[in-house]
Amino acid sequence: MTEQKTHATDAGTLVWDAPSDEPTSASQKDSVLLEVQDLSKEFHVGGGLAGLVRGQPAQTVYAVNEVSFTLRRGESLGLAGESGCGKTTTGNLLVKMLEPTSGRILFEGQDISGLEGEALKAFRQRAQLMFQNPYEALNPRFTIYRSLVEPLLIHGWEKESDRLERILSTLRRVNLRPPEAFLNKYPHQLSGGQLQRVVLARSLVLDPDFLVADEPVSMLDVSVRAGILNTMRDLAREMGLTTLYISHDLSLLQYTCDRIAVMYLGRIVEIGPARVGGTPHVIENPQHPYTQALVSAVPVPDPSLARVRPRIREGVPKPTDIPPGCPFQERCPEVMQACLDSFPPWVEVDQQQYALCHLYGEHADSPKLSER
Ligand SMILES: Nc1ncnc2c1ncn2[C@@H]1O[C@H](COP(=O)(O)OP(=O)(O)O)[C@@H](O)[C@H]1O
Ligand SMILES: [Mg+2]
Repeated sequence: MTEQKTHATDAGTLVWDAPSDEPTSASQKDSVLLEVQDLSKEFHVGGGLAGLVRGQPAQTVYAVNEVSFTLRRGESLGLAGESGCGKTTTGNLLVKMLEPTSGRILFEGQDISGLEGEALKAFRQRAQLMFQNPYEALNPRFTIYRSLVEPLLIHGWEKESDRLERILSTLRRVNLRPPEAFLNKYPHQLSGGQLQRVVLARSLVLDPDFLVADEPVSMLDVSVRAGILNTMRDLAREMGLTTLYISHDLSLLQYTCDRIAVMYLGRIVEIGPARVGGTPHVIENPQHPYTQALVSAVPVPDPSLARVRPRIREGVPKPTDIPPGCPFQERCPEVMQACLDSFPPWVEVDQQQYALCHLYGEHADSPKLSER
């Protein structure tokens, strides 16, 4: 149902089947599944004897900083940003693979920090993480059957026939057909695309409500990426799944997601609709100077349409050393005095599109430092 609809052109660009703007029914979309409130995660690195030996002083890494957003049931949010900006840490916090330093995650209104015992097990069934690297996600010595049966056994599926039926139906769902042919295969006998479909099957076999897909296709050839993303999007719709897609590549998110959030140094700096009326939105109308820079790095099929590359410096500042004022000030081509002095406001710049930026606040008319 999917691979035929997409193909890679010679230029390596992806061609997608047209997405609709309404992935789930309106009533379903109205209810909130996940609410993230001021979520922060710090890592403490270096210091101690080992740090002394390696010459690494004690430091705090501010990996995720006061991140807030809401996901409605059936909605998909894409999280973009350069390597090291905190995407994976955010994803791991949402499925409780990591505990936050501060802030809250409410799943159906319930704070997940206090979950224990059966309630924690139930949450683990409902919130799944799909790993980036199929070669790490699957044990090379396990058959596909064994990799898929494991989560069912952990979650108390007692009847073997039920387990087999669920595994076969899940393989069919991810377009591995006929499913029986894959059961006794080992990872090394499959192609990269097939393997990533097995990883997807593993994260869906318990029929979760929420899926975090961390760079789900970044290890794959361009030619198979779109097929897998389309399968994921179709399945999410079919299953009413709520999804967080993590990718450093904005262009992958515009057709797979309902909304796009851009992260910089642990913060969401822009969030908005992926498309409006079928036309890509955030990627065509980026508001934050950082999003504008990311968009300019997205390859365009026609070189005559090449976007003007904004002048931002290479190299993300370290998340140990975040300047006061706007976190993007050091690289921003539009930096103003206010950006050095005070933290930027959240402004609704366009319908449902928000940016964390002084350009849209009370300092909008102030001169750029480059103009002085
Ligand atoms: N377990 C950890 N210990 C120390 N620092 C970490 C740990 N995990 C992530 N970090 C740091 O947190 C920051 C965000 O990392 P990550 O969430 O993996 O970013 P991304 O997925 O966007 O590349 C990086 O500076 C990374 O080095
Ligand atoms: Mg990552």
